[in-house]
Amino acid sequence: MKENIDLLNKKFENAPIEEVLKYFLSTYGEKIALASSLGAEDQVLTDLLLKQDAKAKIFTLDTGRLYEQTYKVMDLTNRKYNIKIDVLFPHAKDVETLYQTQGINGFKESIENRKECCHIRKIAPLKRALSTLDVWITGLRRSQSQTRESMKLVEFDEGNNLIKINPLIEWSEEEVWDYLKKHKVPYNELHEQGFPSIGCAPCTRAIAAGEDIRSGRWWWESPEHKECGLHLKNN
Ligand code: ADX
Ligand code: SF4
Repeated sequence: MKENIDLLNKKFENAPIEEVLKYFLSTYGEKIALASSLGAEDQVLTDLLLKQDAKAKIFTLDTGRLYEQTYKVMDLTNRKYNIKIDVLFPHAKDVETLYQTQGINGFKESIENRKECCHIRKIAPLKRALSTLDVWITGLRRSQSQTRESMKLVEFDEGNNLIKINPLIEWSEEEVWDYLKKHKVPYNELHEQGFPSIGCAPCTRAIAAGEDIRSGRWWWESPEHKECGLHLKNN
């Protein structure tokens, strides 16, 4: 498998993104899906994927703590492309237990609590989605954070035992925005209010010009902890 991954990275080294998506969509059919947070990068991928295949699978993890503006962009996207993005919710029982053990916003009290909340609300539903797939597509970009610098276009996700592709890995923030504007793709209005990266409402805040683009996520934690676990190896 490792050799295949290396070969694929080589094959697509300078390839246009459409070619990469076309290859994976035609090779994996029903077994490939985009994980979308409805953020700017994922909206670019949604547009590109649906232009290639109007039935391309897209899913989002609804943690129950998202911004209203995120639901708005989901609705606009569903209407524009005449689709229904798949929504995965956490198990109700787990959220009830989380509340009983941590209270409402226990994730602010310790990294362990925060990880437990992310695990119940995001990781477990993600694993459910991935268990039906051979490939997942993400909107990760290398320049987003120090934890993403070594990521590649094609990777084998050992923790979840499937291929992961990051078609925007080399893209700059500017390229993302040029694409969204040029193709009139709906985007989250919070991006225009100082939110380059948007997650759950209580764990995301606006940043000031010049600040690191992920500094508004879990801002009370140090940079090396700032991944919810969706993209950590060996979860
Ligand atoms: S996170 O790990 O810090 O939450 P980030 O918001 O930067 O991730 O998003 C990186 C990629 O993870 C997105 O492009 C998307 O592929 C995936 N992702 C993040 N949040 C979600 C979500 N709620 N639902 C589905 N995919 C998500
Ligand atoms: Fe919970 Fe915050 Fe993680 Fe969302 S980002 S799942 S609210 S800890």
